[in-house]
Amino acid sequence: MHTYALLANPGHNRIYFESAMEIGQLELAAILSRNGVSPKISVMTDSALPGAILIETQEPLEEAELTAIAASSLTYAFFEIAGEDLLRPIKLPPFECFPESLNQILRYTGKTNEQFTRLMVNLAINACSTDSEKKTLLDPMCGKGTTLFEGIIRGMNVVGTEVQSASFADLQAFLIKYLKTGRFKHRIRREKRSDSNGKKFADFFYVETAATKEAFADDNKLTLQVYCADTRRLPELVKKQCCDMLVCDLPYGVQHGSKTASTGRLSRSPAELLEDSIAGWVNSMKSGASIVLSFNEFTLKWDVAKEILENAGLTVKAEAPFAGYLHRVDQSINRNIICAVKP
Ligand SMILES: C[S@@+](CC[C@H](N)C(=O)[O-])C[C@H]1O[C@@H](n2cnc3c(N)ncnc32)[C@H](O)[C@@H]1O
Repeated sequence: MHTYALLANPGHNRIYFESAMEIGQLELAAILSRNGVSPKISVMTDSALPGAILIETQEPLEEAELTAIAASSLTYAFFEIAGEDLLRPIKLPPFECFPESLNQILRYTGKTNEQFTRLMVNLAINACSTDSEKKTLLDPMCGKGTTLFEGIIRGMNVVGTEVQSASFADLQAFLIKYLKTGRFKHRIRREKRSDSNGKKFADFFYVETAATKEAFADDNKLTLQVYCADTRRLPELVKKQCCDMLVCDLPYGVQHGSKTASTGRLSRSPAELLEDSIAGWVNSMKSGASIVLSFNEFTLKWDVAKEILENAGLTVKAEAPFAGYLHRVDQSINRNIICAVKP
């Protein structure tokens, strides 16, 4: 038996840390099962470490599993338990294709916690079975880009839509400043999208960049495409079957409203918006692509989300480690995750 201790990242949000210790165990199970390992995962209760997860396996963990662990949303440091009270630090392999600071600098009300976003992206990566060499991640309601930036960090091309022009502007301003300050080679393009009558319905922002000059020159670039538009117009903006993963933190009906088709006004329930949008989202997914959505259970029940996804032809993953993520964020938000795949 081989035993390991994962010291959990304390993050900056105390309440999320407590939830993270719970849901992070499921995430680790999902990450490691992909690599064919089903270790025993539990919280270390009698340890001097401030917050740690115990991982017990029959065989020693190998490079692929250690890389997956490096990318888990909980990971801060990793040790092999070499004897009673004896921890051997393990240097985890690098997993990021772009500096993590891309997602750590910009702070704003309504930002999806970046560790939680990483957890969702990890579930999407592990549920996805497309064969694309370079994966494309889509966030159809991307705010100021937390999911998109996580996608870039993980080496994916990313596409987003966001209805609020202020968020769209802030995302651009931040990204350009970040790339210039960090001296990352990049190229930017801005365009407009019009309908068949010539009426503009979306602004478009495109960036290509890379972590190194060599990668940029070798055409090993990462691309970000964001449309300032209503997500229900996605089919008019992106090609069919363009993405391998769709990851989105839905409006909670508290901080963010969701504009509904019927009234055009802000609704407190994201269910209606999800029903209006899901066909277009599924259209943008390749066969084998995964979809991971988070939402507030006070405004959208998991069973309702499941019905909407299944009616759209998706196969919902209803068992652990892809289900069971309900956790408290604050008084008005009990957050959950639903994960599904396109057959
Ligand atoms: C929970 S927030 C996502 C936050 C984002 N993950 C971030 O960290 O910045 C939900 C987002 O959905 C956007 N939204 C609401 N209705 C929309 C619609 N009909 N089309 C596109 N975006 C919409 C809101 O403006 C908000 O930015």
